[in-house]
Amino acid sequence: MSSVTYRSFRPEDIPGAHALSLEANWPHRLADWQFALDIGQGVIAVDEKGDIAATGLVWFYGDSVATLGLMIVSQHHRSRGIGRAVMDRLLDLAGDRSILLHATADGQPLYEKLGFEATGHIYQHQGDVVAGGAPTTAPRALQTADLPAVLALDTSSFGAARAALIRNLAKAGEAVVIEENSEIVAASFRRPFGHGASIGPLIAHDLRHAEAMIDHWTQNTQGFLRIDLTSHGEALGERLAERGMLRVSKVLRMVKPNRGGGDPLKKSCLSLVAQALG
Ligand SMILES: CC(C)(COP(=O)(O)OP(=O)(O)OC[C@H]1O[C@@H](n2cnc3c(N)ncnc32)[C@H](O)[C@@H]1OP(=O)(O)O)[C@@H](O)C(=O)NCCC(=O)NCCS
Repeated sequence: MSSVTYRSFRPEDIPGAHALSLEANWPHRLADWQFALDIGQGVIAVDEKGDIAATGLVWFYGDSVATLGLMIVSQHHRSRGIGRAVMDRLLDLAGDRSILLHATADGQPLYEKLGFEATGHIYQHQGDVVAGGAPTTAPRALQTADLPAVLALDTSSFGAARAALIRNLAKAGEAVVIEENSEIVAASFRRPFGHGASIGPLIAHDLRHAEAMIDHWTQNTQGFLRIDLTSHGEALGERLAERGMLRVSKVLRMVKPNRGGGDPLKKSCLSLVAQALG
């Protein structure tokens, strides 16, 4: 049996990690790995030939919450305990934070063994967009001056502060907000990702505002668009399907409760930034 060594994930490991995600049929581009690594840290396993045999990353949102993802073991290295060893190292990095992740069928048995509990589902919708009607409440573009209010809205919706992620999203893509009585009550981001673009987070207390933002993005996107709805956003599924974004998979959301308690997600968080990042 071949042996592997473990070390921290470095920027120069991105091409090797990207090869693993392609092998797993994941859509990530090199730029998506870079985006993830910019605000996270990871572990890789290297085999005897010097090739990357496994990856896993973790992102810290304040002192109490972390998310974990981009966990991949290359096909010919699987079922030898490498996934478990990468997870043990990521859990060490996360310390006493509560950890969230989104589990594929492959990953679920490993996560259950490590104490993760199911807390809901994520519904992945995607496809080539069909433009629908114009939104009834027109969202407006995010201005720099809106950022503090949007960061506060995201923190209360996601359940932990993730300012670096939201700021990087604003740089990488575009965002719109809905304002009522001079207060920002809804926000959503769209950035290049995978086969086209992805919407997330989508934050709204009122379903009509969420629908208006879906209409905005589908009116203003050509080609492939993806969204990963949380359990709270499932009601948007029908509208998304009408706009060409069909449900293509359902994955399990899991939490390993710790200092941050259980799953902190609030009802206003209707879509993830990404299954890895939360
Ligand atoms: C999920 C994945 C990372 C697991 O890696 P791995 O190196 O094969 O896992 P390990 O050999 O360390 O197995 C870990 C544990 O899970 C158990 N396990 C793994 N697959 C299992 C299965 N299908 N059914 C039951 N148990 C399983 C093993 O028995 C082992 O338990 P143990 O530590 O008590 O012996 C790997 O299958 C993979 O990369 N899959 C494709 C990408 C993916 O879906 N990643 C997960 C994203 S959330």
